[in-house]
Amino acid sequence: MTDLAYTAEVARETAPVFDLLKDQYDETHWETLAPYIYEINRLKKEKNAVILAHNYMTPDIFHGVADIVGDSLALAREAAKTEADIIVQCGVHFMAETSKILCMDKKVLIPDMKAGCSLAEGITANDVKLLREKYPGVPIITYVNTSAEVKAESDICCTSGNAVKIVEAMETDEVLMVPDRYLAAYTQTKVNKKVLTYQGSCIVHERFTVKDIETFRARYPGVEVLAHPECTPEVLEASDYTGSTQQMIDYLEQEKPGKVVLITECSMSDNIAAAHPEMELVRPCQLCPHMKRITLPKILESLKTEQPEVLVDPDIAARAIVPINKMLELS
Ligand code: 13P
Ligand code: SF4
Repeated sequence: MTDLAYTAEVARETAPVFDLLKDQYDETHWETLAPYIYEINRLKKEKNAVILAHNYMTPDIFHGVADIVGDSLALAREAAKTEADIIVQCGVHFMAETSKILCMDKKVLIPDMKAGCSLAEGITANDVKLLREKYPGVPIITYVNTSAEVKAESDICCTSGNAVKIVEAMETDEVLMVPDRYLAAYTQTKVNKKVLTYQGSCIVHERFTVKDIETFRARYPGVEVLAHPECTPEVLEASDYTGSTQQMIDYLEQEKPGKVVLITECSMSDNIAAAHPEMELVRPCQLCPHMKRITLPKILESLKTEQPEVLVDPDIAARAIVPINKMLELS
């Protein structure tokens, strides 16, 4: 495409990003990425669009075009207060839906409609209705990694960053946390309530094993192991710290460990390595195939065509916003 050439202006404008990312992309590769970064940033301004990018986005997106980066909680908070006309959600579908529910008057785009999530796909609104019948009076806390319809049937939402706080804020001695059994199991270890759960799991995090952690510790003596609460209880037990993606970043920025391994999706480590060259990051690789559907060419196409647009039925949105807002008020 002629308008996507690696011109002197593109090279100059994207030089600070290349400087940050030169350990991740060689020059030839960069010359293919930089024109997209330049054009996306130009178009974003022209259209008063904001790019919200999850911590699992690849470094070219995370450091090159994102306006706001963070975990699911941070992105929901930012969506709620943005003044942009268009939100481009670089993440998975449930994140874009949450943004849409919080900003029904705005256009919310997702560069690839197929960017799903195994947790969100593992539970339906009907499942939640059945659970409510089975556990009358027990508050249903729904992980944000779910569809709008599932949220609409719930009492309150949570993210991996605030699950413990949300459970503690419930007035009952028993709560039902859906759909991630591992996030529920982790939360159970932190609260004095009974946490009932469901059978959902994340296809990325459930793949890590205790053996992986033992291997990292043997190969990299002194390495600190940080794990996401979507991992199995055994993996969390074998780790030094558990937290959401943003909590892991905050921990690293505060504690400044010399050597660290993040038991989560691969791009997290790449993004942190670029921002913290002083830190040695061991890079275990478990890719989220859904997150990896989002690429620079798709972001540019989405901005140009203002498609695909994420739409939520207004009646569902009116019900789903209640548990989301309750969560935002409590966190
Ligand atoms: P965070 O909210 O911790 O970023 O997690 C979202 C997610 O999808 C993890 O797999
Ligand atoms: Fe869903 Fe797991 Fe991918 Fe996160 S990493 S989006 S929980 S499949």
